[in-house]
Amino acid sequence: MIAEYPPELLAEVKEKTIGCRLTGFTPGQGLLEPDLMLVGEAPGRHEEQVNIPFSGASGQELMGFIESIGYSRSTVYITSVVRQRPYSIKKVRDKKTGEIIEKYPNRTPTKKEVLAFAPLFDWELATVKPSVIVPLGNTALQRLLGRKANIGELHGQLLHEPIQHANHDHDGYQMTREKYWLMPMYHPAAVLYARRLEPTIKADWQRLGQQIKRFK
Ligand code: URA
Repeated sequence: MIAEYPPELLAEVKEKTIGCRLTGFTPGQGLLEPDLMLVGEAPGRHEEQVNIPFSGASGQELMGFIESIGYSRSTVYITSVVRQRPYSIKKVRDKKTGEIIEKYPNRTPTKKEVLAFAPLFDWELATVKPSVIVPLGNTALQRLLGRKANIGELHGQLLHEPIQHANHDHDGYQMTREKYWLMPMYHPAAVLYARRLEPTIKADWQRLGQQIKRFK
């Protein structure tokens, strides 16, 4: 478990996200030097409230997948590329009172927000040292492998490649010299929107369960 993120990296995030609609702060959680580091997009409302990553509806799906290959929340490390909840502001009419009220639904983080968190994420990855990184969905996958990477093509494949990390000036990315092991997976929320993906996602997790044996 990471007790604390370095204060200078937190200060940098704060400065780079001034004016962004981000709230809360949900730390990554789990085992150091684990077999698997699961990387999501950003916390949602439930995660913001309880401060535990993947503790809402998509988290329940995720726990089912990791338990199907013999792991649990405490035997993996779970984080996401952005550690605050991105929200938008929507004005809607309250059905009962007819009043206009504001709502603050979750949204996908912007590229600027993902980059603002990049040095913090790089530090977390270097500290956690997983055997295999599991990016969940396109936001995490593209943060690690670049804009052209696509989860529809790469899901369920074991890759050994350099990944993106923040460049010297922290205003963009560069590729690492060393290679990392990754197995991209669909984001668990995908099954909530498209149940037809469930057999594919389950098969991908079974493949990960098989492949991880070679790292032990
Ligand atoms: N989606 C994510 O990417 N991370 C969470 O913690 C919850 C939902």
